[in-house]
Amino acid sequence: MTGVIKGTGASVPSYILENKDLESLVETSDAWIRERTGIERRHIAIEETTVSMAARAAQEALEEAKLSPEQIDMILVSTMSPEDIMPCTACQVQREIKASHAVCFDLSAACSGFVMAYVTACAYIEAGIFQNILVIGSECLSNVTDWSDRGTCILFGDGAGAVVVAAEEGTGYLPAIYSDGARGEALTLKSRPNHKPFGEESPGEEETPCYIQMDGQAIFKFAARSIPQAIEEVIRRNRLHKGDIAYYVLHQANERIVEAVAKRLGEPAYKFPMNMREYGNTSSASIPLLLHEMKEQGLLHSGDRLVLAGFGGGLTWGTAILTWK
Ligand code: ACO
Repeated sequence: MTGVIKGTGASVPSYILENKDLESLVETSDAWIRERTGIERRHIAIEETTVSMAARAAQEALEEAKLSPEQIDMILVSTMSPEDIMPCTACQVQREIKASHAVCFDLSAACSGFVMAYVTACAYIEAGIFQNILVIGSECLSNVTDWSDRGTCILFGDGAGAVVVAAEEGTGYLPAIYSDGARGEALTLKSRPNHKPFGEESPGEEETPCYIQMDGQAIFKFAARSIPQAIEEVIRRNRLHKGDIAYYVLHQANERIVEAVAKRLGEPAYKFPMNMREYGNTSSASIPLLLHEMKEQGLLHSGDRLVLAGFGGGLTWGTAILTWK
């Protein structure tokens, strides 16, 4: 058995924050942001939440897959901006969409999370454990962004994307997924301090920032180096060639990273669709959001082979190949 994407869905907040609007928050400019990142605007949650966007995206994906919520065996949500630690986002989505037979849990791998969740779903299907799995990336990064830090606040946006992965006869692809905890401090989102009631309070504990902090240049270099290698590796592992790949669906962090990856691979720019101009970096939502848009725009055809590629905090990164239904 293998996992096949049977439906996609997306949900983004209605409120739009333009680059120009950021000029009143931090010392930056529309021109700088466009030139360095390719981002023009981002959607920011006002009424929406990580759960509500995930649930809407999931419902849309289910409709396309022609499955009822009760037919879903598992819900996997990738997020680094959950509303609550417990219950997890996946369980809250289950409640919203009434997927009463699903087993639900969240997966935390930052911006690589959607690729990791997709690979996990395929593994459950290939092992014969489950038939129909909802894989969701949903983020309210505006909640965890330091809006006084120009190095990060210009980058992020909110949104959700979902896919239904269903079992079909056939053989799957091997992924190429990696982590390097030793380099984790380059991109962090610290949790609230853990109080140690029986230990000594560490000095300055209460000042720990609970916002995304990033060494932008280090992350840029990491992505531009690791992602071409991981793409070459996943193609090699599956005995394919670059000519067999219709599109590379990369995490949407920065247009310059995507262009650098294309150049290193020697592949044409049209194979690297992008949408961060409209949404900014939505972490684990960016790949399913882009997949959904590509489908809506009629870019995807039956039999097309796609490479999904994610990278982010942890550090984590990885690639997976799929054939479009
Ligand atoms: N507006 C204006 N000037 C700025 C801004 C800003 N928003 N931010 C930084 N600058 C200044 C810097 O202070 C610096 O000034 P200086 O030369 O006087 O010291 C100058 O611009 C250049 O700064 P750099 O950090 O070198 O700019 P760079 O070209 O590297 O772009 C950026 C910064 C956009 C953050 C880039 O490093 C990047 O995109 N990195 C990857 C980030 C990323 O992808 N993160 C997410 C991956 S994982 C995840 O999605 C969670």
